[in-house]
Amino acid sequence: MDCTTEPHNIIVDVHVTGETPESARAELRAGLLATPRTLPTKYLYDDRGSELFEAICELPEYYQTRTERQLLIDCADQIVDLTKVEELVELGSGAATKTRVLLDAMARANQLRFYVPFDVSEGIVRRVAQELVNEYKGLQVHGVVGDFLAHLEHIPEGGRRLVVILGGTIGNLAPQAARTFISSIHSELTSGDFFLLGVQLETNIKRIEAAYNDSAGVTGEFNKNILHVMQEMVGATLNPDSFEHVARYNTTDHRIEMRLRSNEHQTIRIPGLDLSFDLEKGEEILTEISTKYDHPRAETLLEDSGFDMIKWYTDPDELIGLALARKP
Ligand code: SAH
Ligand code: AVI
Repeated sequence: MDCTTEPHNIIVDVHVTGETPESARAELRAGLLATPRTLPTKYLYDDRGSELFEAICELPEYYQTRTERQLLIDCADQIVDLTKVEELVELGSGAATKTRVLLDAMARANQLRFYVPFDVSEGIVRRVAQELVNEYKGLQVHGVVGDFLAHLEHIPEGGRRLVVILGGTIGNLAPQAARTFISSIHSELTSGDFFLLGVQLETNIKRIEAAYNDSAGVTGEFNKNILHVMQEMVGATLNPDSFEHVARYNTTDHRIEMRLRSNEHQTIRIPGLDLSFDLEKGEEILTEISTKYDHPRAETLLEDSGFDMIKWYTDPDELIGLALARKP
């Protein structure tokens, strides 16, 4: 970690490091021994995974990013006017590309003071912090490198805040985990703070499936990157080429399920987890779910956690929803 080159208007707190603590090893072991075998989605995002996700956002099939960006362009001024916030906290901030639309609207209203990018991927938090202080004069950036399911209490104290989750990241959590997460955000906020939740909508299932099975194979590379992370992190002996990318829609649970399917019978050895197990030919490991919402399901998620939903924005094709909520 290099803090010396950071200017005075950047702070970055690091709560996850390159080490693999016993709790993370236990989580990995439990997932790999579960039925179905599962790997935690956050491990898709090392520096290479974050770059691959940025490439996904540019794919013709991945309509989500450009649709959400246009929707933000259409409603950002109203959100800034309604909320009057001077601090933006973004959970799962990634490259913060669409965030600039909100930051621009805050700057236009002379309300831009403080931005908190919060992400598990250290490289991208540092890069974004540097880019944004260069782009926005007078902006203070306080980055947090952490797991938003474990480190929310490290969101720095500030004035009235708008917390945002964009990109449909909430959809990557199973229903109970999503409820617990939104409740924890509610607990961290002060009465009068705001929350903007971006969700991907279940409007067109064929289009959704195509978005996760792109013709250039970038989503497959992104999916397989988790195997490289397992090699690096816990010394897994496996050949990523012996796996195939699979993404199917599950209509019962309203979600894409992304898996890695073994092309052959193989034994996986993971010395760092003190674990070894056999995979049958055709056996799959679940790496990501991506849940699609509708307006009522998004509203229920927010209101069950104690938020008041005050606005619902959607694009003309109803592909993306943005729910603006307030802690009463
Ligand atoms: N908000 C951006 C990026 C979405 S990709 C957009 O809309 O394009 C999801 C982001 O969440 C990634 O940058 C990933 O590193 C981050 N992420 C995933 N799981 C996380 C976790 N448990 N804690 C913190 N960040 C996480
Ligand atoms: C970040 N997240 C909302 C993306 C999604 O659509 O679920 C991640 C992704 N996985 C495959 N393509 C994109």
